[in-house]
Amino acid sequence: MNADLNHLNDILGRVRQEVGKVIIGQEAVVDKALIAIFTNQHALIEGVPGVAKTLLVRTLAHVMGCEFSRIQFTPDLMPADITGTNVFNLQRNEFTLLKGPVFTTFLLADEINRAPAKTQSALLQAMQERLVTLDRETHALSPNFTVFATQNPIEYEGTYPLPEAQKDRFMLKIRMECPDRNEELSLAKRMLGADSPEKTLERGEVKAVITPDDLIRLRTELESVIVRDELLGYIIDIVRATRTNASILVGAGPRATQALLLASRVAAALTGRDFVTPDDIKTMVFPVLEHRVILRPEYEIEGLSVSEVIERVLHEIAVPR
Ligand SMILES: Nc1ncnc2c1ncn2[C@@H]1O[C@H](COP(=O)(O)OP(=O)(O)OP(=O)(O)O)[C@@H](O)[C@H]1O
Ligand SMILES: [Mg+2]
Repeated sequence: MNADLNHLNDILGRVRQEVGKVIIGQEAVVDKALIAIFTNQHALIEGVPGVAKTLLVRTLAHVMGCEFSRIQFTPDLMPADITGTNVFNLQRNEFTLLKGPVFTTFLLADEINRAPAKTQSALLQAMQERLVTLDRETHALSPNFTVFATQNPIEYEGTYPLPEAQKDRFMLKIRMECPDRNEELSLAKRMLGADSPEKTLERGEVKAVITPDDLIRLRTELESVIVRDELLGYIIDIVRATRTNASILVGAGPRATQALLLASRVAAALTGRDFVTPDDIKTMVFPVLEHRVILRPEYEIEGLSVSEVIERVLHEIAVPR
């Protein structure tokens, strides 16, 4: 491995270690969150209440020396509640910008589907452009601006499901499962003592391993992870196969190809390799494709799931050797 990747690998190890002081288990989830951060993209987080979604994003922000904010989406949330507004300052006789919560680095957008489309769009535009336009004036957001969004279960009354085009803006969907028995036991023990995960974070026992500027530099180190042409072809074949599969109504677009490529590269680096393998790609296929693929209603009625269909698509494509 070259010096750049050794350095990156060392940093990733230390980040995982510090996050592990707070978050029990969930290693695969932490890695996926790191993949979103290191590719400078955004992620959806899915999981039942109380699996530490909020705590995870707060902890990641802390470990990377980044600012953290949270927005709770509600049906009456307005675009200006996200972006901010220009208010007239009487003393200075001028308008000044009252910055909204998007002016942060790591943003947790909780229950994004509870706000109407106009408000969702304000966030999605900020995500895409890392810019906010208010009264024809453009304001830059942090170059590390990263959104982690949660969705309320769709069956919930009064939700505004994210349109497909908007889900596509999220590089991956991170599923957080409940902890296993042993993990839940160690969580319970920590709750009894004085070292609950939250307190560990608040007491400053968790170190900031890098700064936001380091993050920008580290991303360029990823460029030395090698992706062979055959594997590029493999990625493209997988994504294209979702567009022709008989049980799929809407397949994945070109953003999925890019996401799968970039995600696989970080996945390789997280395993300490300087080259991508077919397995890196396979592990990233589900988080990258699941939220972008829509099944034909007749297959959905049969009880087929998106992940089963993706599994089949994957089986049909020859793995490069
Ligand atoms: N794997 C875990 N590691 C550490 N703490 C955990 C873990 N799972 C749950 N917890 C604890 O569960 C509590 C709830 O965490 P948090 O508020 O982050 O959940 P959430 O997923 O954001 O819930 P909600 O969907 O209701 O917002 C916290 O007190 C946290 O300490
Ligand atoms: Mg929460």
